Amino acid sequence: MANIDICGKQELKSVLERFRPERDQLLPILIDVNRKFGFISPEAMMEIAEFLDIPVAEIHGVMSFYHFLGTEKKGKYVIRLCKTISCEMAGKERIVRILEKELGIKFGETTKDEMFSLEFTNCIGMCGESPAMLVNEKVYTHLTPEKVIDIIDELRKRG
Ligand code: FES
Repeated sequence: MANIDICGKQELKSVLERFRPERDQLLPILIDVNRKFGFISPEAMMEIAEFLDIPVAEIHGVMSFYHFLGTEKKGKYVIRLCKTISCEMAGKERIVRILEKELGIKFGETTKDEMFSLEFTNCIGMCGESPAMLVNEKVYTHLTPEKVIDIIDELRKRG
């Protein structure tokens, strides 16, 4: 087996044991590994490829199609700010600035303590209440810089 430093060899093995070693199991395996570790490391991809006896390139192909399958470790709270037109026009840039200032990172990055990641997303269907963002699965709307500060404070308290 390939060396799995980042996400735990034994834990990955226990995930794979729940599946048949057949190609049609690829997506369910990727979803499970992503859920368990928060991302799918290159080492995990190699293990999965070996388990299913498929090329690693096939895993890359599936992962590039499903954007929720990440290749890098993300924070406990993944903040996804809508970058589509209604939110853009409703002051998205102000929200970008306050998020980056409050968290000390840029979009596309994760804080050192692995608490927060910042990403953009396309429209999340809340255009009438823009600007809007998701924190993991929770939706926040009518964002203002003050509201964003309160949300971050609340998440930090929650830990
Ligand atoms: S454009 Fe942002 S929620 Fe639709």
